[in-house]
Amino acid sequence: MNTKTQVLIESGSDELIFFVNGKKVVEKNPDPEMTLLFYLRKKLGLTGTKLGCAEGGCGACTVMISRFHLDSQRLLHLAVNACLAPLCSLHLAAITTVEGIGSTAQKLHPVQERISHAHGSQCGFCTPGFVMSMYALLRNNPAPHMEQLHQAFQGNLCRCTGYRPILEGFKTFIQNGGCCGGRANGCCMNQNQGVDQGLDQDLDLDLDRDLGLSRALFDPSEFMPFDPTQEVIFPPELISLTRSRKSCSLVFRSPHCTWFQPNSLDQLLDLKWTHPESRIVVGNTEVGIEVKFKNMVYPVLISPTQVPELNSVQHTETGIKFGAAVSLDQVESVLQDAVMSLPAWQTEVFRAVLEHLRWFAGKQIRNVAALGGNIMTASPISDLNPALMSTAAILTLRDREGIRVLQMDQDFFTGYRRTTVHPAEVLVSAELTYSQQGQFVRSYKTSRRREDDISIVTATFNVTFEPESSRVQDLRLAFGGMGPTTVLALKTSNALRGRMWGEELLQTACSSLADEMTLDPSCPGGMVSYRRTLVLSLFYKFYLTILQSLREQGVEQVELVPSEWLCATKVFHPPAPSSVQVYQTVPSGQDLEDVVGRPLMHVSAEKQATGEAQYCDDLRPADNELYLSLICSTRAHAKVLSIDCSKARAMPSVVSVLFAEDIPGSNWTGPVVQDENVLAQGEVTCVGHIIGVVVAETQADAQKAAKSIKIQYQDLPAIITIQEAIEAQSFYEPIVALQRGDLEAGFKQSDHILEGELHVGGQEHFYLETNVTLAVPRDQDEIEIFSSTQSPSQTQSCVARVLGIPSNRVDVRVKRVGGGFGGKVSRSNIVSNVVALAAHRLRRPVRCMLDRDEDMLVTGGRHPFCAKYKVGFSESGQVLALDVTYYSNAGNSMDGSILVAHEAVVHMENSYLVPNIRGRCIVCRTHLPSNTAFRGFGTPQTMLVCEDWISAIALKLGRAPEQIRELNLYSEGDRTPYNQVLEGVTLRRCWDECLDRAKIHERRAQIQDFNRQNRWIKQGLAVVPTKFGIAFKELFLNQAGALVHIYTDGSVLLAHGGTEIGQGLHTKMIQVCSRGLGIPVTKIHVCETSTHSVANSSPTGASMSSDLNGAAVRNTCEILNQRLQPYKDRDPQGNWESWVKAAYFDRVNLSANGFYRAPELDYDSKTNSGRMFHYFAYGVCCSEVEIDCLTGAHKTLSSTIVMDVGNSLNPAIDIGQVEGAFMQGVGLFTLEQLLYSPDGVLLTRGPGTYKIPGVGDIPTQLQVYLLRDAPNDKALYCSKAVGEPPLCLATSVFFALKDAIATSRLEVGLSGPFQLDSPATAERIRMACADRFTKMCPVAEPGTYKPWAVVV
Ligand SMILES: Cc1cc2nc3c(=O)[nH]c(=O)nc-3n(C[C@H](O)[C@H](O)[C@H](O)COP(=O)(O)OP(=O)(O)OC[C@H]3O[C@@H](n4cnc5c(N)ncnc54)[C@H](O)[C@@H]3O)c2cc1C
Ligand code: FES
Ligand code: FES
Repeated sequence: MNTKTQVLIESGSDELIFFVNGKKVVEKNPDPEMTLLFYLRKKLGLTGTKLGCAEGGCGACTVMISRFHLDSQRLLHLAVNACLAPLCSLHLAAITTVEGIGSTAQKLHPVQERISHAHGSQCGFCTPGFVMSMYALLRNNPAPHMEQLHQAFQGNLCRCTGYRPILEGFKTFIQNGGCCGGRANGCCMNQNQGVDQGLDQDLDLDLDRDLGLSRALFDPSEFMPFDPTQEVIFPPELISLTRSRKSCSLVFRSPHCTWFQPNSLDQLLDLKWTHPESRIVVGNTEVGIEVKFKNMVYPVLISPTQVPELNSVQHTETGIKFGAAVSLDQVESVLQDAVMSLPAWQTEVFRAVLEHLRWFAGKQIRNVAALGGNIMTASPISDLNPALMSTAAILTLRDREGIRVLQMDQDFFTGYRRTTVHPAEVLVSAELTYSQQGQFVRSYKTSRRREDDISIVTATFNVTFEPESSRVQDLRLAFGGMGPTTVLALKTSNALRGRMWGEELLQTACSSLADEMTLDPSCPGGMVSYRRTLVLSLFYKFYLTILQSLREQGVEQVELVPSEWLCATKVFHPPAPSSVQVYQTVPSGQDLEDVVGRPLMHVSAEKQATGEAQYCDDLRPADNELYLSLICSTRAHAKVLSIDCSKARAMPSVVSVLFAEDIPGSNWTGPVVQDENVLAQGEVTCVGHIIGVVVAETQADAQKAAKSIKIQYQDLPAIITIQEAIEAQSFYEPIVALQRGDLEAGFKQSDHILEGELHVGGQEHFYLETNVTLAVPRDQDEIEIFSSTQSPSQTQSCVARVLGIPSNRVDVRVKRVGGGFGGKVSRSNIVSNVVALAAHRLRRPVRCMLDRDEDMLVTGGRHPFCAKYKVGFSESGQVLALDVTYYSNAGNSMDGSILVAHEAVVHMENSYLVPNIRGRCIVCRTHLPSNTAFRGFGTPQTMLVCEDWISAIALKLGRAPEQIRELNLYSEGDRTPYNQVLEGVTLRRCWDECLDRAKIHERRAQIQDFNRQNRWIKQGLAVVPTKFGIAFKELFLNQAGALVHIYTDGSVLLAHGGTEIGQGLHTKMIQVCSRGLGIPVTKIHVCETSTHSVANSSPTGASMSSDLNGAAVRNTCEILNQRLQPYKDRDPQGNWESWVKAAYFDRVNLSANGFYRAPELDYDSKTNSGRMFHYFAYGVCCSEVEIDCLTGAHKTLSSTIVMDVGNSLNPAIDIGQVEGAFMQGVGLFTLEQLLYSPDGVLLTRGPGTYKIPGVGDIPTQLQVYLLRDAPNDKALYCSKAVGEPPLCLATSVFFALKDAIATSRLEVGLSGPFQLDSPATAERIRMACADRFTKMCPVAEPGTYKPWAVVV
């Protein structure tokens, strides 16, 4: 062994030196297992960088890492996920966090200013991540193009905004078309903010202006100029340190792990020889995941970043040789350069790899993940390995004893995540070769979401023809996702070699591939039939592409590709999105200081953009604080036989392990009915059921101890799916039912009767901030709870019950919540209960923030629904009778499931008058975690079912669905099934305006034309209305309180019962208070929501918070106004401050508490009469989509929304709610799929496997119009609720997809209604587009195998 290596192995720990926001940090004993995120948040207190997933999938933790590159003498700036970056990898790096670029106290950075002022920050939890992705992009390229902007955000998720306002704000940095970002007079952005020129030409701007409509939600001309020369400089000391320590090798040690950073290949080989079990870490995007989520322990980690051979790029005679540690981003840029400079025929391989890299993860991952890491991980769904195998990339392997050079072929991968590489060997490089004349290479990736998603099936096909001929000389077909390793279809290749490229070859290829590429019906990943179909479909695309290329090259005797098939050869390019938002401006006489109705920015937006906004886990650790970790069941239904905590209790850091018997109060909890245990007692009823908790000095120890606990179970029969619940008659009481009219007569009158069934999958809330609670015991019997709950009063009463103390001893405080969507109304209490229990028992502060996988496992989500319907209708399409039964999967406790069922049933007819109607909802008790409230509360599911029977009627009658919808729309004075007379119905106005704005008749004709000309790409269109009832079902919840203090300096502290979950509630309440007291908003502050300030508040939900709390605030202001009036009368020339002072000196109470109860709600279910809803919100959306019939991929071409929000309190916030809700609905109906094993184990527990919409999923054209002149006299200042109703409009995307699929089915003679379950995933779309390929891959007979995942 090299003596230097010996020294390295034997030496003590080195110092780790890096800079954070310009300040030097010297860490003497860095822990190799610590991530940068943990260090920033917990050691440096820089909490602006957020933890959203810990697996590189959400971008909330994005920071910029800069280094001085010695070879190029340049600075490199990279956006990186701090949650995966090992602290030890940062030697001599400069880290910039969101706090380092600007602050509200000093000056915002333009990036921070633009995202906040463009309304791109709602809950704000994702905002620092977006800010840092944008900042890093600008540091590398001060004038980026739209495509670069788009790429920069591939790795950032936002659950609130729908991305449009974020892009809109950042588009102002873009320089295409000479746009100056609004700085110059006459700039396109000032005239017509954010509107794409193409879209704009179609819109009648002048007319809108005449109608008092505006498109300006922000004014870019007010933005400070962006001057790239003013950026924070790279620390000069770091440049000299980098130069002086160029060739240093390093070692960092902790008791459990050693990190080596060798500086030569010899040292690396020595280390690998000595520690063959070690892991080589470059991006840590695999190793980091294994350690965090798969419980892997790696005592030795080796970083090869200083080993020249692994970091070099060499251009050889045969191709380009990349060192194994070269990042994917670098590979991409080197290949792009080669493609630009070399003849096209030589770069077929490079272009195929580039095609994969375009869709590989997000920018943050590509910036750090290495080519070698992807190869050596040997994932069967790796994107690059099929490309490398198909093109026989040359791999160079070294160990201390020698070198091996091999071509990647069928023998390289020896099993699941295994290769022929020996443990002591190192992959030094991979060479991608130049292609030859007559060679064609193409790559394909299919995934649930186009961007930042692991693949379902990937393929790279490589064919070489005999010179000037279409005869196949050589062919290599490589697939990922078709087995435990990347595979080559050798048999098929052999069968095709020597054949002419034509229909006969295609047929042989397909039947051979169908035989060769088989999968066991139970195989991991599921989707067996789809995956097999993809193999054929992708080959077919390749076949057509090559056929076309051969013809273009003039090769003789090549068949002509019919023009309508050519679409199958097109490669998808993300279009530049464009948008329009139109709202009515305030009346011309409105006082400038009166901000009601104006697009005021979210009051915390700037703080959110600078990272100053504090969320629950950002609170500094309290003295003596402990951390809590959950012990969860791994069985769906079982008796707990024994629990062995000996290992956990023996850990020095563990302070306590608590179980049900440690609860001083009641172990029964629940929001409506107390039917669930705080901690399981003897029996568990779902995977994720909390059995106990471990409390330790640190998070790592608590989690380690929890994992060490051994539990023995005796399994009991488990019910997982709705189907199983129906078979076992496992239901909660009561069955919710609603009926009106004469069903029998209705069906008799009908010319047609259709029956159908539809399954609507559940949905994970995926708020960016997971559930978190900090409980601090005070005095002997008081406790203070800081929680991310949407329902502080509910948390207060739950905690009081668990602890056996009165509610007046429990103060629940909520500053802001990083997204809730209903998921933190009741389920947040499962965390608060146990954290409070631990704090109460141990008399020490205790904290717990759930990891993303835990949160997804234990908290439940939107209820999956299954509906069976029968609908009767006339020849003209008039609906005469409907009978529908829904089954919802409630899980192992009631939670709010009966209320959800009620909302579902009362919205079953959506916006249509159905004279004879019956709806029932049966709530299934299963062994899944309890499902709960989720934006829309059951209505999205039933509205989808409703639109399904409407579209079935249209298919049956051969009419356009919009005709059937329009025919059946409600009108003024109609009665709902619960006999509420509809007043102030704006549905038809929304409908007409939407049809008009979307130019639907023109578009229908164009789509029909398009579909005639394209066999494999189809477009579809749907217009869908929504009618959404506004009120809490439980009468008593329709109340709110507010508390206003006026201080003697005139400043006002406002408190109300609602929580700020990103929806801008505090902003709206400040606007209301400002109008109420007649003072500027700058004088008013909302500090937090606390049960000690406002008691007995209702949950923030049901879209009611602005209505209820706003009215309470207004009433409070009226009380104070009355008290101040004498002083105003006495001193009319005075001002607010002088009146307040005068009143104070007169001993007038300047604090007031106001209250509001919603009037007129008196529905009686016994008589099915009275008023159920306060009023209704209406909206209509038209969406157009395009599907790839061969892969099932789709894109939304446009969505045009017309929404009635009454007189908007704040159009920027309301439009934000419309767009955010709409995109959440798009996720629900097209993308997000929770997968459970047949044993009830949730398989999708993070952003890696559960896909919410990303920035690439927004409609290419998005238009939002707030209906003008639609005051609503039932709510505050004539406004309307907006939080939930627009979500249902996303059904338009689902039915546009169904429309497109129906056209595809016509091509093979399939007409009439067909079942498409929700979400309309790529798999479902592809399989519904039946064709010759789907026929060759039939689904295995149900019952003959155990599927990997089941529909619950
Ligand atoms: C959010 C996210 C998205 C992702 N998206 C994709 C995707 O779209 N497509 C895809 O294919 N993958 C994806 N991945 C997987 C992963 O990013 C890639 O496999 C990546 O290339 C791994 O590189 P790394 O440098 O981070 O590996 P590391 O985690 O640093 O190392 C991975 C493994 O490779 C071994 N290794 C590394 N270098 C060598 C070497 N020179 N010699 C021997 N062994 C070596 C290590 O010992 C280790 O076992 C994703 C991962 C994440 C977290
Ligand atoms: S927390 Fe790092 S990417 Fe989600
Ligand atoms: S604002 Fe993006 S997640 Fe809430």
